[in-house]
Amino acid sequence: MNELCESLGIEFPIFAFTHCRDVAAAVSRAGGMGVLGALAFSPDQLELELKWIDEHVDGKPYGVDVVMPVKSVDREQGLTDTKSIGADLRGYISDAHWDYVHKILADHGVPDEDEEENDGSPTAQGVLGWTEATGAPLVDIALAHPIKLLASALGPPPKEAIDRAHAQGVKVAALIGRVEQAVRDVQQGVDIIIAQGYEAGGHTGEVATMVLVPDVVDAVAPIPVLAAGGIGSGRQMAAGMALGAQGAWTGSIWLATAENDTSQVVTEKLINARSSDTVRSRSMTGKPARQLRTAWTEAWEAPESPGPLPMPLQFILWSYAMRRIGRANANELVGMPVGQIVSRMNSVRTAKEVVLDMVNEYIDTTERMHKALEHA
Ligand SMILES: Cc1cc2nc3c(=O)[nH]c(=O)nc-3n(C[C@H](O)[C@H](O)[C@H](O)COP(=O)(O)O)c2cc1C
Repeated sequence: MNELCESLGIEFPIFAFTHCRDVAAAVSRAGGMGVLGALAFSPDQLELELKWIDEHVDGKPYGVDVVMPVKSVDREQGLTDTKSIGADLRGYISDAHWDYVHKILADHGVPDEDEEENDGSPTAQGVLGWTEATGAPLVDIALAHPIKLLASALGPPPKEAIDRAHAQGVKVAALIGRVEQAVRDVQQGVDIIIAQGYEAGGHTGEVATMVLVPDVVDAVAPIPVLAAGGIGSGRQMAAGMALGAQGAWTGSIWLATAENDTSQVVTEKLINARSSDTVRSRSMTGKPARQLRTAWTEAWEAPESPGPLPMPLQFILWSYAMRRIGRANANELVGMPVGQIVSRMNSVRTAKEVVLDMVNEYIDTTERMHKALEHA
């Protein structure tokens, strides 16, 4: 469809960020590019997920996404031991913050008992791949599979990982929310910039997609840019391309697909939510992330809140609470990162249907605009 598609071997410039291997494989098979978010997997789990994708993607290109924050507590404090990093990071959480978490749980009748299954691993402790020490092994696993794209959020991958990716013919993409970040990442050797606007699900900056994308396109040309944030339909994709992007990077829209592993409770919330039911809040990860507004996000905005902790400490609190909230079915506290396009996510389709609907509407839109020119 365009130069970027040719260089990646895909039919449509539709990139699907997802934590679900079934969605990633389905999008790639449908002609787009599925990109599996590695953050929540241990290295062993990621190996299994990627092996599964290799077996189900019919040889089509796919990618992996990691999150390697430029700024985080582990980096500031020099914490690098994966065996002790969970306990080490917990040492930086104040009693006032733990007390506040216990209070939120008590206020909602959630039993706050100890967990027997917590084996002390970074995943069980809520550290996930947020730290350099736990994120780097995920990059190693990803590069041992036939991926075509390595993407990274909150900062570019380490220079050494970029060089290794390039040596294997893997393109490197980085999500950014400001022009300066795009310029920095290109200087580090990143091949594709994902310009993600304020309306997106997950971590977002403060600039809207409509404003960010053309600024980034001009600042990094001829480096290709993907438009992200608020894209779930062909009209929105056409808008991103009109702004100068070479493709659309999407996240929220896949949460309401048949293949996705979203729970029934969250799926119902997503189907019923309006754009104004999302909020940009630090209460999940410590950095501003757009998500459904819930009793949890509200509690961290309340006057008695001690305020969210920096990444990844807040996520340790969040995952402690969410494990207990999930068991207690305290649904008012259950949320999900999702963008403002949640208002349009009001039915469940297969991932293939989403890709094809997007492509068809994109074609209709560009034809409509051509016709408008003929009449001008
Ligand atoms: C549930 C969810 C989780 C996300 N987690 C990540 C992540 O781990 N890494 C990442 O690079 N982006 C993540 N994002 C952001 C997406 O990559 C993408 O940029 C964003 O969803 C685009 O905006 P949209 O939600 O309007 O489509 C996440 C988005 C959602 C909705």
